Amino acid sequence: MEPASRPDGTPVVVVTGAGSGLGRATAERFARGGWYCLLVGRTPSKLEATAALLDGGPGCSIAALDVADPGAMDEAVRRLVCERGRVDALVANAGINPVRASALETSDEAWRETLRVNLDGVHRSCKAVLPHMIERRHGAIVAVASIAGRTGMAARGAYGPSKAAVVQYVRNLAVDHGHQGIRANSVSPGFVVTDLNRAWLESLPEDALERLVGRHLLGLGAPENVADAVHFLCSDESSWITGVDLPVDGGYLAH
Ligand SMILES: NC(=O)c1ccc[n+]([C@@H]2O[C@H](COP(=O)([O-])OP(=O)(O)OC[C@H]3O[C@@H](n4cnc5c(N)ncnc54)[C@H](O)[C@@H]3O)[C@@H](O)[C@H]2O)c1
Repeated sequence: MEPASRPDGTPVVVVTGAGSGLGRATAERFARGGWYCLLVGRTPSKLEATAALLDGGPGCSIAALDVADPGAMDEAVRRLVCERGRVDALVANAGINPVRASALETSDEAWRETLRVNLDGVHRSCKAVLPHMIERRHGAIVAVASIAGRTGMAARGAYGPSKAAVVQYVRNLAVDHGHQGIRANSVSPGFVVTDLNRAWLESLPEDALERLVGRHLLGLGAPENVADAVHFLCSDESSWITGVDLPVDGGYLAH
């Protein structure tokens, strides 16, 4: 089911990390569903490439910024609300995994940067949209966490904790703002080949790659698999779902 058409116009979604991978596929999914998209990311050329894919949708705009930069998301959302009058959904998807190492082997700098983008970035994105959503007593937030935040995984010393924290952060948002008409959920994707992990996956010995793929009962995922789940969690089809973390992992966590 596509978003119910409301008397006050086209629904509006903010997608962070929209210049590639899961964020790009998510923006495409929303545009296909009739949503206006604000595409947020660091690199203008990548955001413009995503915008070019949204031709059939009701429109989009671009905000090139660092999601963890204090004030940057506030300003982008303020401008969006001035122009469109509303923000119905946030997909807090931007994330990094700058180092694949145990916690012991992770430098302080990599630790701080991982937490800054993956956790502070989600927090600042949510803080930017929440006042507008609360004013209209309507809104859905979906954060993109990871199976690495749900189960032990080698060499994810900073990334895993950052994603586990996102799951708990969103659960608390659901509790604090449910009575104000806000739903908050997360998804925990399994492995999907994107810029985030392509080089690492290609560097794995064949048997290690086979083991990793085999842990996914349905094989590796595609960005569209995650995009469909995120869209569902922002749509009226999930209007009684809040405070959950949905694994979108081809059965990885069940295995
Ligand atoms: N690909 C996977 O297997 C997988 C699995 C689980 C979770 N995830 C999560 O999915 C999300 C999307 O990752 P992806 O796989 O599409 O990788 P990706 O590298 O293609 O996309 C991440 C996007 O976030 C943007 N970004 C990074 N830091 C930013 C910042 N500070 N401010 C604004 N934008 C920023 C990047 O420019 C990039 O476009 C991430 O949160 C990642 O942790 C991915």
